[in-house]
Amino acid sequence: MTRRVDRRSFLKASVAGAAAVGLSLSSGRRVLGANEEIRVGVIGIRGRGADHIKGFGAVPGVRVAAICDCDANVLDTVAERFRSQGQPIATYTDARKLLDNKDLDVVATATPNHWHSLIAVWGCQAGKDVYVEKPVSHNVWEGRQAVNAARRYDRIVQTGTQSRSSREGVAQAIAWVRSGQLGKILAARGICYKRRDSIGLVAGPQPIPSGIDYDLWCGPAPLDPLMRKNLHYDWHWVWATGNGDLGNQGIHQMDLARWSLGVDHLSPRVWSVGGRFGYVDDGQTANTQIVFHDYPDAPLIFEVRGLPDKTDSRNMDQFLGSNVGVHVHCEGGRLFIPGYAATGAKAYDRDGKEIMAWSGTEDHFANFIRAVRSRRREDLHADILEGHLSSALCHTGNISYRLGKTATGDEIAARIRADRDATDAWQRMVEHLRANQVDLATTPATMGAVLRMDPQTERFVDNEQANQLLTRDYREPFRVPEIA
Ligand SMILES: NC(=O)c1ccc[n+]([C@@H]2O[C@H](COP(=O)([O-])OP(=O)(O)OC[C@H]3O[C@@H](n4cnc5c(N)ncnc54)[C@H](O)[C@@H]3O)[C@@H](O)[C@H]2O)c1
Repeated sequence: MTRRVDRRSFLKASVAGAAAVGLSLSSGRRVLGANEEIRVGVIGIRGRGADHIKGFGAVPGVRVAAICDCDANVLDTVAERFRSQGQPIATYTDARKLLDNKDLDVVATATPNHWHSLIAVWGCQAGKDVYVEKPVSHNVWEGRQAVNAARRYDRIVQTGTQSRSSREGVAQAIAWVRSGQLGKILAARGICYKRRDSIGLVAGPQPIPSGIDYDLWCGPAPLDPLMRKNLHYDWHWVWATGNGDLGNQGIHQMDLARWSLGVDHLSPRVWSVGGRFGYVDDGQTANTQIVFHDYPDAPLIFEVRGLPDKTDSRNMDQFLGSNVGVHVHCEGGRLFIPGYAATGAKAYDRDGKEIMAWSGTEDHFANFIRAVRSRRREDLHADILEGHLSSALCHTGNISYRLGKTATGDEIAARIRADRDATDAWQRMVEHLRANQVDLATTPATMGAVLRMDPQTERFVDNEQANQLLTRDYREPFRVPEIA
């Protein structure tokens, strides 16, 4: 097969951008023929990245040609799998070097959250199309830069919220409920009751496991000593790198809930209440949380629970028959979108009788590749803008929580009384904590700040402390560039 590198097509802007982040000026992109093989590089290949390798490998006309991980053990293990099957693979520990590889058309990333937007922006600047895992950002501002980069460098950028590819299932159901078939939509409710155990409590800094380039692993985050047992995965529960379960499992349901409401901007008013209950460990994020997004037509309420239904149980609470899903409450009944990665939905009338059901999903990786070939972002099921908005709803909820103060149950009830749906969620949360023998008098919940947002500017109104948490102090040279 002949391969062409059309250097004229390489945007001048990407050269400038690439130079700014230290990517080689020889980076470029090929102009793809209709049937030409698409070459993918996957960055961060321990957990979800392994799914990327499998998923892209299964799409006709696509080949995973490069892999990158800053953990040499992970990289070697995965590279060996390729080699044992006689498949050539380029390996990298530094994502910038992978982005320098001009034979790659696409970069997919499943690193921890704090790297997502930076890799998405760098990928666009290097002339690649990008598949970026959810949440697409670790903070609101950088997510917007990822959207801007996609537009400025004219790249195809897909968010890893695969439920968006349930076209015959979820998309049809949402279109149906939005057309008024169940009357007015009263509220959308995301439920994420998923067991999250203690991550342990260490006495001091932990050794960095051998084989890990910790400077690269930390990237934009501070190069702080490791203050937890496991470097991998448990970063979700630490603010410098993760976004709690709201930005982990929860972002899937946040996205479906926002889609159901048909809103394409951040909520004008948000608050959160919660805590990290049931154990004392090195985690910082809430394991029990309510977020209230006060959209004027109908609110978006989100509930996170990491503890079981009662002490010593392995079962989770159920809300209307399920522990993870989205409920769209309407005057004439309810739409329910179930599951960790939703592939369908059901509608119920006011008596709880099932009246409609939808199912069916397409492959989210294949959808992305289709758009890469067509060069039409309208072909994408989860364009980066959708990913940014839904990720940002997780972040603003967390900002409210982080700026909160502990309060008694009565104080919290009084503060949220005007938001009727939230009061109901709070009362159920109190019962849930009681069943887990959590005493709110000795381990009080945190009542978050009530924040007002200007959705046009994506900045909070009259709250500089909250605005500071919309971004971070980037550690050089891992700074997300501002893209106009
Ligand atoms: N869409 C989904 O259904 C889904 C499912 C699971 C996870 N995810 C997302 O995938 C991401 C990864 O999750 P995970 O469970 O695989 O995490 P993990 O911690 O198990 O693995 C992350 C890997 O990335 C590597 N890494 C870190 N920084 C890197 C860098 N700068 N360059 C190269 N490699 C780097 C780590 O060494 C590790 O091997 C998360 O953001 C998560 O939200 C999505």
